[in-house]
Amino acid sequence: MAKLLLSNICKVYPSRDKQPSIFKRLFTKDKSKLKKPEDFVAVKNFNLEIEDGEFVVFVGPSGCGKSTTLRMIAGLEDITAGELYMDDVLLNNVDPMNRDMAMVFQSYALYPHLTAYDNIAFGLKIRKIEDTVTDKDGNTKTIKRHHTKAEIDEKVQWAAEILGIKELLGRKPSEMSGGQCQRVALGRAIVRGPKVFLLDEPLSNLDAKLRTSMRSEIVKLHQRLGTTFIYVTHDQIEAMTMGTKIVVMKDGVIQQVDKPTDLFLYPNNIFVAGFIGTPQMNFFDVVLKGDSSKVNLTLEDGETLALDAKKMRKINPEYLDNEEHNCVLGVRAEHLKIADKGINAVLSIFEILGTTTHLFMHLENQEKEFIVATDESRAWVHGDKFKLFFDEEKIHLFDKESGLSILEGAKK
Ligand SMILES: Nc1ncnc2c1ncn2[C@@H]1O[C@H](COP(=O)(O)OP(=O)(O)O)[C@@H](O)[C@H]1O
Ligand SMILES: [Mg+2]
Repeated sequence: MAKLLLSNICKVYPSRDKQPSIFKRLFTKDKSKLKKPEDFVAVKNFNLEIEDGEFVVFVGPSGCGKSTTLRMIAGLEDITAGELYMDDVLLNNVDPMNRDMAMVFQSYALYPHLTAYDNIAFGLKIRKIEDTVTDKDGNTKTIKRHHTKAEIDEKVQWAAEILGIKELLGRKPSEMSGGQCQRVALGRAIVRGPKVFLLDEPLSNLDAKLRTSMRSEIVKLHQRLGTTFIYVTHDQIEAMTMGTKIVVMKDGVIQQVDKPTDLFLYPNNIFVAGFIGTPQMNFFDVVLKGDSSKVNLTLEDGETLALDAKKMRKINPEYLDNEEHNCVLGVRAEHLKIADKGINAVLSIFEILGTTTHLFMHLENQEKEFIVATDESRAWVHGDKFKLFFDEEKIHLFDKESGLSILEGAKK
């Protein structure tokens, strides 16, 4: 069992800047002009429950605090504030060696002079295990001892079998590809039989094709082991395809925790809406005015979309008071349809991707581009004018100032 609870976890890195010199401090009259070194908050009030056996993904742009959070869980980084529990045991001050977790990094961190076999076996050789022995008087006691050679061999062979690297065990890292090295690194983690696997961008060094195949292999590995996995990535596709629970982060703050489909269908805010999904969701500044039956959205070019509120996801009633509200309309490329009537758009460029074509368009007299994804195949011509239909059921609306969704979320 390994249930994890992160309660209000924070990480503050002390500033690397120096304090102003003593002379500067003495001779500056206006003390408020002295530049004080500011500590950097890398992770702020991180709250999360992770069930036993779950596959959780932390995703967000580079620098948003994913690795820092993972390293705090592993014990490689002090927790500045908050509590970390595993199965109701407080872990904050538990040594990383005793946390029963194994970590896999982007840089495989294999020993270059050891074979794949010895790299996988390394952790087993240095760690002692508990064993019960019976002495000659028939008393049993618990002792700590090293693994036997046969025990190590059994585990290494088992891991190699699962990862499909049996024939590579005699090779050194320099004689293996990136994908093979990463498998060895995974093998090193799984032979230890940890309660939790922590994976920090393990596929980032691999080429695109290998990344896709390793993605499904890691998912299969998780299914086979049934252990808790925490996987860190900046790649939203990796997150969406691998995780059952996804934690979207930005600037050290959790933006949303949800299963992949709910993140896609019911983003909490503009950031999540723009981060999840390819191509990126289109955003339009609009002025919203309406009541519980009719909603008018006026676009920047002055055109108005008259929508049927009954067909839309439920709107926060505060916005349905017949007053004007500055909002942001979000529509995914696949939910904008070329039609006989609708808003006027001009085609600037198009990309044919096989069955789908991405049309880069802009509103008349507006520069900002947006994307329409269509399955239609016709002779697209730069500068052609189209009318676009917005499907009420599929649109997203956010408050412009707060960035928060004003539509009802997923029913939980
Ligand atoms: N040892 C450190 N000292 C100061 N700042 C750090 C340190 N490690 C990371 N940071 C900063 O904390 C933020 C989060 O880093 P990190 O968790 O590595 O981001 P991510 O893994 O999401 O890319 C970044 O802005 C980074 O520069
Ligand atoms: Mg990182």
